[in-house]
Amino acid sequence: MRFLTRRLVMPNDLNYAHSLFGGRLLQWIDEEAAIYAICQLETNCLVTKHIGEISFESPALQGDIVEFGLATKGVGRTSISVSCLVRNKATKKTICLADDIVFVKVDPETRLPAPHGKTMELLAQQTAEEIGKLNIGV
Ligand SMILES: CC(C)(COP(=O)(O)OP(=O)(O)OC[C@H]1O[C@@H](n2cnc3c(N)ncnc32)[C@H](O)[C@@H]1OP(=O)(O)O)[C@@H](O)C(=O)NCCC(=O)NCCS
Repeated sequence: MRFLTRRLVMPNDLNYAHSLFGGRLLQWIDEEAAIYAICQLETNCLVTKHIGEISFESPALQGDIVEFGLATKGVGRTSISVSCLVRNKATKKTICLADDIVFVKVDPETRLPAPHGKTMELLAQQTAEEIGKLNIGV
């Protein structure tokens, strides 16, 4: 699982208990997972089909930086299942795990599921190539 994105917890992200509001985190997870799935499947014609069990393990507070780890859990004919782990950047403590987020590719005209043509093997190869192109050397 690679942690490629981060967000800063701002005052308007908080609940009445002064910690990160669950709804805000769900919005961020859906968005981060969607971006990940779009890049994996190389199409932005995706819709969120299913979000499985989510557990909120520890709170995030104002000023915390949270980071999002994403991985491909499974690939079907029209769908992809993604795992998302959110953790505190400083402490590495898990804030939330969403283990089964399913996106389906849809045809832009009919809105019906459409084959994406990817396999786990293809995605692994594609990811390895992308990592090779990342400018993250020191
Ligand atoms: C996405 C949508 C077109 C799928 O329609 P559908 O009738 O469920 O389609 P299918 O039964 O052919 O399933 C399509 C894929 O989703 C998967 N799927 C369906 N229901 C699922 C579920 N509950 N959990 C996980 N995967 C599911 C199927 O396994 C299939 O994957 P595969 O082709 O990779 O094997 C339709 O449900 C839809 O438009 N939903 C609204 C999506 C949306 O607007 N999301 C934004 C949030 S409001």
